[in-house]
Amino acid sequence: MDTTIKRALVTGASKGIGHAISQTLVAAGWHVTGVARGQHALGSVHIELGELFEPWCVDATSDALLERIASAEPFDLLVNNLGTARHAPLVDTPDTDLDLVLDTNIRATLRITRAVTRVMRAGASVVTITSQMAHVGGPDRIVYCTTKAALEGMTRALAVELAPRGIRANSVAPTFVRTPLTAPMLDEPEFARWVEDMIPLGRVAQAGDVAEAVAYLADARSVTGHSLRVDGGWTAR
Ligand SMILES: NC(=O)c1ccc[n+]([C@@H]2O[C@H](COP(=O)([O-])OP(=O)(O)OC[C@H]3O[C@@H](n4cnc5c(N)ncnc54)[C@H](OP(=O)(O)O)[C@@H]3O)[C@@H](O)[C@H]2O)c1
Repeated sequence: MDTTIKRALVTGASKGIGHAISQTLVAAGWHVTGVARGQHALGSVHIELGELFEPWCVDATSDALLERIASAEPFDLLVNNLGTARHAPLVDTPDTDLDLVLDTNIRATLRITRAVTRVMRAGASVVTITSQMAHVGGPDRIVYCTTKAALEGMTRALAVELAPRGIRANSVAPTFVRTPLTAPMLDEPEFARWVEDMIPLGRVAQAGDVAEAVAYLADARSVTGHSLRVDGGWTAR
């Protein structure tokens, strides 16, 4: 591969926000290694984006991904987009859902970040997709809010720890974006109305809006430890 092309690792790259991030980075000339489990969706992104997109069909919570990272060339950008949700009141949340969301959003993200940053070079950066729900509370979202606030903490501490190596860490905190994760919620008219009423700009964000914020932070050489809210003003109220 051309050694002047910068290399990004994007987790959860086959759908929704991760797909848009991959599109934006490839359009900007990045080589993107995209991680997801489902071969079909990942294969479609590969066909769409061509040779600058390298699909890694692997569970992001597994040791197998860490082994692939360890044997790959160092990355110039890690986009921690992996994340999931099981929305319910805490008192109705079973351990299976608790474990899934904590393991996916926090444990896997920390393990991937450790593996990637271990060999990152000066000038590289980490961008983590958190959520507006890292900054405010939301109904039925105690576990999700907990995980996203934890990732904001990770980002600030990473920024401090990696600065001496010339590596930056930031987060992007989106409001609701229509993706396979949120489509079932946003298809409920009452829920969609509540979301639009909560957003001063009156509309959900587009996945591409989040991708543009990632691309900005990837190049923002004096910005570190920052949480960039792409939330239409939700948290400004
Ligand atoms: N959508 C929103 O409104 C919104 C708002 C704020 C923040 N966010 C955050 O943005 C990120 C992306 O959300 P999204 O809505 O785009 O999600 P999504 O539509 O559910 O897409 C998730 C992506 O991650 C992959 N994935 C899930 N679990 C995986 C695993 N264990 N290993 C490897 N890949 C996995 C999925 O592919 P496979 O299932 O094939 O593996 C898919 O490519 C998440 O961190 C989410 O919390 C979303």
